Amino acid sequence: MKKLVVGAVAATILTAGCAVKQPPPDQSPQAKPYVIGMGDIMLTNQLHHSKLWFAGTAGNWPLAKYELGELHGGFARVATYHPTFKKKPTGPLVDEFVKNPFGELAKAVADKSEPEFTTGYDDLTSGCNGCHKELGYDFNVLKRPTAPPFTDQDYAPVKPG
Ligand code: HEC
Repeated sequence: MKKLVVGAVAATILTAGCAVKQPPPDQSPQAKPYVIGMGDIMLTNQLHHSKLWFAGTAGNWPLAKYELGELHGGFARVATYHPTFKKKPTGPLVDEFVKNPFGELAKAVADKSEPEFTTGYDDLTSGCNGCHKELGYDFNVLKRPTAPPFTDQDYAPVKPG
């Protein structure tokens, strides 16, 4: 206990001794809130897009549903944090290019249908590329993945029980 008190006193003296002048709160670096970049959201979207493929083609429907939800969240963040990009409103672009494929994929997952899933997936991928083209990133071309992005994840459906 005594040690603690001494420590506290020492800390107070030390702090007082080297009083660093703090900038007013509105000028501190922390005052500028971090905003995730569009490219960063997209890199995450890319991972979910890839994982979604392996989940769906493995017939792991709970995982496919999860990845779809994550991807959906990514696009919600696009509209929230980058409501416009190159002066174009992103919300309507997301709706135009990926809303329908999301609906197709949600149905495929609910129906546990691989043929519906692959069609929906290809439509989604075309939507990704459509928006890239619309915003001047037509060199960023997505396709069906051929290998999982990580080797430490098992895509096989988990048997109940
Ligand atoms: C609202 C339009 C829009 C949609 C829809 C869209 N993207 Fe993008 N994407 C962009 C823009 C804009 C960039 C460039 C962002 C930047 O670099 O600042 C980009 C960049 C990317 C990149 C490049 C990131 C990098 O650093 O290599 C990838 C990968 C990507 N998107 C994946 C996807 C995937 C996967 C989908 C569909 C599931 C998708 N995008 C749908 C607008 C979109």
